[in-house]
Amino acid sequence: ADVFTFDPGFTSTAACESAITYIDGDQGELLHRGYPIEQLAEKSSYLELCFLLLYGELPTAAQLADFKGRVTRHTMVHEQMHYFFRGFRRDSHPMATMVGVVGAMSAFYHDSLDINDPWQREVAAIRMIAKLPTIAAMAYKYSIGQPFVYPKNSLDYAGNFLHMCFSVPAEDYVVDPVLSKAMDRIMMLHADHEQNASTSTVRLAGSSGANPFACIAAGIACLWGPAHGGANQACLEMLREIGTVDRIPEFIARAKDKDDPFRLMGFGHRVYKNFDPRAKVMKESADEVLGLMGIENNPTLQVAKELERIALEDEYFVSKKLYPNVDFYSGIILDAMGFPTSMFTPIFALSRTVGWISQWKEMIGEKNQKIGRPRQLYVGQKKRDYVDLKHR
Ligand code: CMC
Repeated sequence: ADVFTFDPGFTSTAACESAITYIDGDQGELLHRGYPIEQLAEKSSYLELCFLLLYGELPTAAQLADFKGRVTRHTMVHEQMHYFFRGFRRDSHPMATMVGVVGAMSAFYHDSLDINDPWQREVAAIRMIAKLPTIAAMAYKYSIGQPFVYPKNSLDYAGNFLHMCFSVPAEDYVVDPVLSKAMDRIMMLHADHEQNASTSTVRLAGSSGANPFACIAAGIACLWGPAHGGANQACLEMLREIGTVDRIPEFIARAKDKDDPFRLMGFGHRVYKNFDPRAKVMKESADEVLGLMGIENNPTLQVAKELERIALEDEYFVSKKLYPNVDFYSGIILDAMGFPTSMFTPIFALSRTVGWISQWKEMIGEKNQKIGRPRQLYVGQKKRDYVDLKHR
């Protein structure tokens, strides 16, 4: 009989080889192609990081200019896709719209569906990096009953996204360079994270030969869950529900109570057992952005900091090695920028698209790439004979 290793949740199974991202969970270390996330977040930019993730090396100035040009050329979506958005209910969650619209890209971009053609794979990658912000902004605009705003290619990647979300035909949103830099950093901090649930979903979907748009749509669907990317929305909603510092102990007690399904959102990680380096950068960024906006006394930020302080001294969280993760502070920045909580996970999705597509390209480029096909431990009925309806 076949013998299998049983590893529910894949806590100790490597499903692939990858040269893109390295995490040392005990040291709280995250490297993209060898470069520490802290250095990238401080010195690099999102599109430069996209290049690094996709091609393995930091670009030269000429390569970066060429890459930016290629991405910028693809920021518009096919005009007919507007009708697709309009088929959704206005009150749809933007993630629901994104799963549908990104999946539908394969119905619009037929010339980048052949996964065996390296040129088509490349075009699909650039298209998705370029169009995901446009699609997320359109999902948002549709949900608030405003007209879609076309991309403005004179702006940089993050600034253009803010423009598409916050401009209206009567008045262009003036993109504040501090906010656009903060947005760019949020995108960098979410760009890739090795074999997390959504990336593994993309790889599994891709292993069957499915087209890249279908694979990324699968990744978006997986990301939406509150244990994964949906945690940023859930976290800010939790911080608001807590409301004031004096209510924190009540919520800490609930998180520790095994009969209560409540968990501290934005806390804990499968791999990081010391700290999440992304959360550190995010916290600094939150301080900087709210400070510059003159709202550092924002009650949500106060609750977050006090909650973190109390949890990090609490035996339960210490013994289980639970620390704030990337989702803990990101929502506070996005909220200050004017985004509703329903847009937090779409922003995670558009930022992670480059990670998904880089991992997908890496897998497709492998020799002897195999379909992902886990086995199981069967615990059902033994073989038995069919019973006619009248005898049941
Ligand atoms: N609050 C309270 N207890 C927790 C929490 C939490 N946030 N996270 C884990 N625990 C407890 C859990 O109850 C379990 O206790 P016990 O050993 O007594 O049964 C122990 O810690 C281990 O938890 P686990 O669920 O077995 O750990 P995991 O590696 O399977 O899950 C996690 C990791 C991130 C899903 C989990 O920590 C969690 O649900 N956190 C809250 C949601 C969240 O913030 N997710 C974002 C993750 S980072 C960004 C991303 O991936 O998108």
